[in-house]
Amino acid sequence: MKLRFAILFFLLVLLGSACKKKDDNPQTSFTPYEIQVPKQFPAIDVPADNAMSVERLQLGRKLYYDTIISNDGRACGNCHYQPQGFSSDHVPGNNVLPHVNLGWSKYFLWKGEKNCTLEDMMLFEVNDFFETNLNKLNANETYRQLFYKAYGVKQIASKDVAYALAQFFRTLNSGNSKYDKYRRHELALSQNERNGMIIFFTEKGDCFHCHNEIFLTDNALHNNGLDSIFDFGEKGRFDVTGNVNDIGKYKTPTLRNCELRHKFMHDGRYTSLEQVIEFYNSGVKQTSVNIDPLMTLPYKENGLQLTQQDKDDLLLFLKTFTDTAYIHNPELSKP
Ligand code: HEC
Ligand code: HEC
Repeated sequence: MKLRFAILFFLLVLLGSACKKKDDNPQTSFTPYEIQVPKQFPAIDVPADNAMSVERLQLGRKLYYDTIISNDGRACGNCHYQPQGFSSDHVPGNNVLPHVNLGWSKYFLWKGEKNCTLEDMMLFEVNDFFETNLNKLNANETYRQLFYKAYGVKQIASKDVAYALAQFFRTLNSGNSKYDKYRRHELALSQNERNGMIIFFTEKGDCFHCHNEIFLTDNALHNNGLDSIFDFGEKGRFDVTGNVNDIGKYKTPTLRNCELRHKFMHDGRYTSLEQVIEFYNSGVKQTSVNIDPLMTLPYKENGLQLTQQDKDDLLLFLKTFTDTAYIHNPELSKP
């Protein structure tokens, strides 16, 4: 009897000290994670100093949805809202760019303010946009342990926050829409969707030069002829470079999941895709300075001259870019 108690006591002490040890000195761990790049997409670049791991990715995902990194109750996931393809329309001011397939992007923000790696872009978000208070993170025992596990750091720096967020961004990939399935020969499009596709991918609508095949963006900046008069501070990429050749140029937004949004263009001036299509059909300001040469080809002098049927079909085709698996993916939602 006595012996049994002694053994039990001994075991309890052992257990107690083991637990305590773990709390005081969490271990780093690296469980490699392989990104599921959508089929037919090019390989994704991952920088050597931020190799993907389960621990880092889960930390990035937690941060994405946590208001702790802001000083005013904001979290990335509030404005970049999963049900709307990681964009949203409830934010006043500039239209929210969606978080989708940004691991392949080189330019970020509407005016291409950032031409850098995802890690550097995240550093900008943390330091300049959110002005993250690192003291708050360092005072949080859970985060201290998670950062130690993921990156082996005892003191959390903004670089660590940015690196973890970049890990999550590399998994925000959408490539399973009806359009993707069509490209992989997994299903057929309707007659009307096919007509819309032909308009999109031929000179008739001429959308594909900028919203090109896989990403539905060329990751470049253009003046697509929205305006011919530009207010101060509304001159597009010119506001960044001061180069007059950049007046009116904005980043080509991806059209993936555009059906889920209700604000379009950098300033959100259009509230439906019908309005956008009518703009391209008949509203392009051909006299705009620096307008992209594609917008002023001779045959476009009087607009695209699409019939109502063509416009309806083009709209149907734009809706094939909607990826419901993406917006419902539980691995991307708030943990
Ligand atoms: C208050 C709403 C709001 C919150 C919160 C927010 N964003 Fe944004 N985000 C925007 C808007 C608006 C834009 C477009 C701004 C622009 O280009 O002028 C944007 C653009 C971006 C872009 C550029 C996307 C592209 O295609 O170039 C990235 C990356 C980004 N946000 C990351 C983040 C991260 C990371 C967080 C959390 C740390 C975050 N955002 C939180 C509103 C928000
Ligand atoms: C010369 C390049 C170019 C061509 C050609 C072009 N676009 Fe665009 N598109 C852009 C740019 C740049 C923007 C963003 C402009 C801005 O906000 O100032 C844009 C914005 C859009 C948007 C708004 C997306 C959002 O999330 O705000 C839609 C939808 C769109 N284009 C569809 C089309 C369609 C349909 C066609 C063919 C009829 C087309 N585009 C042709 C460059 C182009």
